[in-house]
Amino acid sequence: MLLSIETSCDETAVSVICLESYLAASRDTEQYLKSDLIASKTKLHTAYGGVVPELAAREHIANLPSLVAEALAKASISLSEVRAIAVTRGPGLKGCLLVGLSFAKAISLSSSIPLLPIHHIEGHMCAGALLAQHERPQYPYLTLVVSGGHTMLVLVESFRQYKQLAVTRDDAAGEAFDKGATLFGLPYPGGPALSREAERGDAKRFSFPIAVPDDASSFSFSGLKTAVQREVQRLGEAAKEPQTVADLSASLEHAIVEALVLKSVQAAETQQVKSFLLTGGVAANGRLRKRLKEEMEQRGIQFSVPPHRWCTDNAAMIGVLAAGIIEQTPQAFQSWNRSSGEKLGPNAELTLGARAKWPIAELFENER
Ligand code: KG4
Ligand code: ZN
Repeated sequence: MLLSIETSCDETAVSVICLESYLAASRDTEQYLKSDLIASKTKLHTAYGGVVPELAAREHIANLPSLVAEALAKASISLSEVRAIAVTRGPGLKGCLLVGLSFAKAISLSSSIPLLPIHHIEGHMCAGALLAQHERPQYPYLTLVVSGGHTMLVLVESFRQYKQLAVTRDDAAGEAFDKGATLFGLPYPGGPALSREAERGDAKRFSFPIAVPDDASSFSFSGLKTAVQREVQRLGEAAKEPQTVADLSASLEHAIVEALVLKSVQAAETQQVKSFLLTGGVAANGRLRKRLKEEMEQRGIQFSVPPHRWCTDNAAMIGVLAAGIIEQTPQAFQSWNRSSGEKLGPNAELTLGARAKWPIAELFENER
């Protein structure tokens, strides 16, 4: 059994994966994913208009012991049956990461269980592995990772073999949604609130620039933010009218989504991939899902996107990546031995620190 813990931002998440079922030929998610729990604090943070790092960290401390106990109970196992612990090491809010990492290290040390530190964004990129077999993307596939802090297109040649094709020069797509929502006076969390408004808005009322830099290797959303800011200033008080808020939201959503779609289609055609995976928190956006599906399927490319709960932060994606690592390097786990010094796992030390900033570029160096 593999226990995974995710606390990089405001969700406390814990999952349990049965490694034996994961390694079975059928690899049926319903069989191997024994628990998948999330304690969300969105309501707590709404009062402050954003995530308050200190409060989020305290909530993780309060939630983790009971959530882990609940996850084990749901999987009908005890801690003694856990053979590995996967934990998000970064990137994210330092205080939040430290809670999850320290908790995982404590269980690891006290119960002699190997620890696997996981990169949060690599977890998002692997969320496709949680899909039913016929929906999983096939290698080599292209993935668009769109979250609050990242926007990039990555070619996944095989398990953990990545090639970055494009990355944002400035704001991430999630940030563009969140900043727009703030400008339109919408509540936190901005992205979902803005997309709800957009549903009843006219996307043609305002023409915001679809930012597609000539350079194939980049996205850019800061110019779009400036254009939206100017429009809101020009409208003055009228910007607050309910229909105008809906129209501004729909127009901004259109500009962000079309920029993402254009670059994704260009890259899919250049790389001649047969599968495309949409991941990260912004993948919860209905319009983005619909438009990418249309464009990819028109070109005969299989389009995959995880259900909402595996697009936003969750522990199942951290666990399924760790299960894949164990599958790839089983010998590292078999030889793991508590008495062999301070080593906690194949690539982890007791001294392992949280990495609030952990450049994704390090994953692309193919050093492992
Ligand atoms: O992956 P995630 O949960 O956390 C990070 O790792 O960043 O992504 C959060 C981001 C936020 O910017 C949020 O506003 C955005 O995803 N988001 C959405 C939607 N749901 C979440 N953006 C647009 N439409 C949505 N429905
Ligand atoms: Zn995330």
